[in-house]
Amino acid sequence: MTTAAIPGYTYGTETVAKSPISMEDFELIKKTVLFTEEDEKYLHLAGEVLQDRVEDVLDVWYSFVGSHPHLIRYFSTPDGKLIEEYLMAVRKRFGQWILDTCQRPYDRDWLNYQQEIGLRHTQEKKGQTDHVQSVPHIGLRYMIAFIYPITATIKPFLAKKGNSSEEVEKMYQAWFKSIVLQVTLWSYPYAKQGYF
Ligand code: HEM
Repeated sequence: MTTAAIPGYTYGTETVAKSPISMEDFELIKKTVLFTEEDEKYLHLAGEVLQDRVEDVLDVWYSFVGSHPHLIRYFSTPDGKLIEEYLMAVRKRFGQWILDTCQRPYDRDWLNYQQEIGLRHTQEKKGQTDHVQSVPHIGLRYMIAFIYPITATIKPFLAKKGNSSEEVEKMYQAWFKSIVLQVTLWSYPYAKQGYF
């Protein structure tokens, strides 16, 4: 995996936030979302299917965000001017995240980067990585609501390499569970002390 060329992508480095979640608690969250070893297997398969199509997936997601003023404002200055270079810088890391979701082991480094991604959506870190002055944080309501488009739009891409409909469904379910798992972890910095 060659990721050094992605500005601001700090996976596995010392600068990444530390996840406050223990492995025991993480296992319980996984159990709650019914995430099993079979899902890991199908996420790996999804990675093989998606790896040549990352840019096409990103085109769909970016056009979705771009067509909704209440979402594109998060890539804009507080007075509403789009920060094009911000959009493009995040796009590179977003592409890498698709592969990480499918291919990385969900270990301590992965958990730490989930905390980092969560923080990057909040006032604590939003805009810092790309040195931009944008609106200060993304509303938790949109983080949760975004689970649906990020999940529903992936299905046609999972079906593009000739896998059986049963395999496509299993990849899709595994993807869905992973996105719920990740947004759950990203909600940590949003929760009041003691509420997570
Ligand atoms: C950053 C995914 C919700 C706007 C990112 C990154 C990923 C991601 C992978 C890059 C992380 C990195 O820096 O390595 C997701 C997923 C979401 C979600 C899977 C929900 C299921 C949203 C929503 C918005 C949004 C609703 C609003 C438009 C942004 C922005 C950044 C970002 C502005 C850059 C943050 C920064 O300044 O570092 N997101 N996101 N995201 N996302 Fe999201």
